[in-house]
Amino acid sequence: MINHYKNNPTYENIDDILSPELFDDAYLSIKNWTDYAPTPLIKLSNLASDLDIGEILYKDEGHRFGLKSFKALGGAYAVIKVLKDHLSVKYPGVNILDNDLKTGKYVDDLKDFTVVTATDGNHGRSVAWGAKECGINCKIYMHKGVSESRGIAVELLGAEVTWVDGNYDDSLHKVKRDAIENFWHIISDTSYIGYMYVPKFVMAGYSVMTTEIVDQLEASPPPTHIIVQGGVGGLAGTICAHAAKLWPDNRPRLIVVEPESADCLHQSAIAGSPKMVHIKTETIMGGLSCGEVSAIGWNILKDNADDFITIGDDHVAPAMRLLASGMGDDEKIVAGESGVAGLALLTELKYNQNIKEALGLNQSSRVLLFGTEGATDQEIYDKIISG
Ligand SMILES: Cc1ncc(COP(=O)(O)O)c(C=O)c1O
Repeated sequence: MINHYKNNPTYENIDDILSPELFDDAYLSIKNWTDYAPTPLIKLSNLASDLDIGEILYKDEGHRFGLKSFKALGGAYAVIKVLKDHLSVKYPGVNILDNDLKTGKYVDDLKDFTVVTATDGNHGRSVAWGAKECGINCKIYMHKGVSESRGIAVELLGAEVTWVDGNYDDSLHKVKRDAIENFWHIISDTSYIGYMYVPKFVMAGYSVMTTEIVDQLEASPPPTHIIVQGGVGGLAGTICAHAAKLWPDNRPRLIVVEPESADCLHQSAIAGSPKMVHIKTETIMGGLSCGEVSAIGWNILKDNADDFITIGDDHVAPAMRLLASGMGDDEKIVAGESGVAGLALLTELKYNQNIKEALGLNQSSRVLLFGTEGATDQEIYDKIISG
């Protein structure tokens, strides 16, 4: 079952929300990290013709820095930015390099520095990795809906995991309380009134994907449509803002897709202001299970996204299997539950021509999808693929 809300974007200038300099800085920093490599942009030609769509391009984040999701770009980068800010007080005017932090040059200055975040899994893994690389303390809060192995993955990076009763939003509330009491530094991928500075760095990190895509498209025209999945809207907000900068004259239609049971962006778009959604059933797309929008993400999307759509969980497992087996000679792709949201929508549109038409999807469309995660929980992945 698909719910579609057609937004009426006014395409405001959003440089004051997320500036182009933030995107540039993130790329300049991240491209020099050890083991950096652009993730592939894969053309799924057979799938496109099966779905009667001109072209499908899939940005495969399944191997990003060995963390298996695009989130590796955001949290870890924000950790570095926050540490540089902190050190700049003691060392004014000194140009502190990412590598200085990673090679322990300031380890004594940072021995009591602790970062903390709430997470559905992937963001926490990124923050824990950034903290480990810089030799600082890290606390990760996870709610009971997150799988145990996602917690173990974070612990293996040296972070301490606290399990919280309730859902993602409950874990975030506990982080806010505990951080104040303990003087910890919150590195959140969501933003709210009074907390906008750090999430901008997280979002800027994500824009490395779109920077890479421009190179990977070479001489090809930009996509006509971008389908991007929404949790709190940090990812979608970044892609929306960056696409507007990259392709101002032929701006792709930006479609935000969310799980039906956690559709805070969709509900906010309908209401015209942020709406909180109480999550009653956890979706299989765990990374998208968020009930409250990110203030920055929302501020971008409300005036710049073209469509807000929700999908049920039904098409998620089939979409994962479709990618795993590869249609015809299309490349086989390992994609996790939250990673296939865009593809799950496209496959569902096969049975909903009205919405497909309303989205302007046809044989002349060039659709860009974000495969935001690989097998971030191997056990769950194997179970789904074996059907
Ligand atoms: C794999 C994956 N895709 C997409 C998202 C959505 O990102 P955001 O919460 O910034 O909307 C997440 C969030 O955790 C995720 O883990």
